[in-house]
Amino acid sequence: MNNSRSALSPGWHVAIIMDGNGRWAASRGLPRPAGHRAGVRSLRKVVEAAARLDIATLTLYAFSSDNWQRPESEVRALMYLITTQLPVEAERCAKEGIRMSVIGRRDRLPREVMSAIDATEALTEKGSALHVRLALDYSSRDALATAAGLVNNGSCRTTFSQALARACHAESPVPDVDLLIRTGGEQRLSDFLLWECAYAELYFTPCRWPDFDGEKLERALSSFRQRQRRFGRVECA
Ligand code: FPP
Repeated sequence: MNNSRSALSPGWHVAIIMDGNGRWAASRGLPRPAGHRAGVRSLRKVVEAAARLDIATLTLYAFSSDNWQRPESEVRALMYLITTQLPVEAERCAKEGIRMSVIGRRDRLPREVMSAIDATEALTEKGSALHVRLALDYSSRDALATAAGLVNNGSCRTTFSQALARACHAESPVPDVDLLIRTGGEQRLSDFLLWECAYAELYFTPCRWPDFDGEKLERALSSFRQRQRRFGRVECA
């Protein structure tokens, strides 16, 4: 492996911005929610693949705080999809020993979504094969601002990371992101895990999220494995 973790590492943290659902649907003459429904199938394939690969944590951007500004009908369709599909994915994850939790704000989500989240987290809490974190009503800048209010002056990175985890309802901090994947062709971070991606390798693909699958995840990982990660140091001769 050409980067800094050994074969004994507990596994990578991969984060994915699942973009391109709307365009995938439009290119087929379908309404945008059809793209989100197809996106759930990709999510399932990617979670299954991640559990087989050397990935310990998978954080998926499912709904940003800015997504509330989308048309009400699309927001409603997305909330309905999450309410109905999260329990299905939770069952699958529980069977595979996969833990699923949600990061982000919890005070603005519809009650049905909150119930689905509570049930999912309870059902999968013992999973240790992989930790899937879904980011819902998530804004990295909001989480950073909230965390800043939770710590005293002079806090170190470790205490700040703990405050940041609390700020987005994560139980405890997870390791920094190793690889950030964005599908759909755009090359930006869109307010996702800005602190945690300080040294993440970035992988952008034009593939729209509903066309992404386990094989494409493996391709992204093999590109990642070729990278030399120096974390600001120089290469020793
Ligand atoms: C971005 O594509 C995608 C989203 C905002 C939604 C992602 C959500 C899912 C895949 C469903 C998650 C569901 C469960 C059960 C966890 P876009 O709409 O911005 O696409 P576009 O850029 O082509 O318009």
